[in-house]
Amino acid sequence: MKTITLGVSGSVAAHKAGLIAEMLTQAGYNVRVAMTPGAAAFITPLTLEVVSRNHVYSVVTDEYVNGKVAHVDLAQSCDLFLIVPASANTIGKIANGIADSMLTAIASAVPVSTPKLFAPAMNDQMYANPAVAKNIDTLKERGYQIIEPQVGILASGKKGNGNLADFETILTSVRSLLSD
Ligand SMILES: Cc1cc2nc3c(=O)[nH]c(=O)nc-3n(C[C@H](O)[C@H](O)[C@H](O)COP(=O)(O)O)c2cc1C
Repeated sequence: MKTITLGVSGSVAAHKAGLIAEMLTQAGYNVRVAMTPGAAAFITPLTLEVVSRNHVYSVVTDEYVNGKVAHVDLAQSCDLFLIVPASANTIGKIANGIADSMLTAIASAVPVSTPKLFAPAMNDQMYANPAVAKNIDTLKERGYQIIEPQVGILASGKKGNGNLADFETILTSVRSLLSD
């Protein structure tokens, strides 16, 4: 069974992370979730724990169990590192090597050879912001593949490009990277 480390960050689209974790679990993947404190404003760890059938990791300094440092273990024992949704803040931190949360610490410890995918979700003006665009380009240069956001009604109520990609697109992207 292939293992996915699924990072969930603080976009309002984090409320969809439970369905995504469930979809990936039902597709036959072992899903281990790491969430930022910001994500916990939109979805509970308990929900993600139930649908992934695994412990959910959130506080980097709380997780040293059975001789394993959780962020290193989650980074180095996965077949795919997937971030859905990827917030502007988390993208920026990872692009700049900041490792101050469970999710960003995992990102800093993922081997270069591990496939990496991220699905940004944010307001259209955030997505168009030059600093955010530069950080996204940095991740791409470092081997991350992007699952592009789509146009739709945003949290602001206005239409724009920044909505999380649909589930089918996410599953197809995962499958293409994990097929033998
Ligand atoms: C209602 C609401 C919706 C938000 N939606 C998004 C979003 O879709 N994308 C995003 O990048 N940030 C969004 N934010 C801002 C992030 O939550 C904020 O930047 C936070 O610091 C992200 O932290 P994290 O990346 O550590 O999870 C939203 C904030 C609020 C209050």
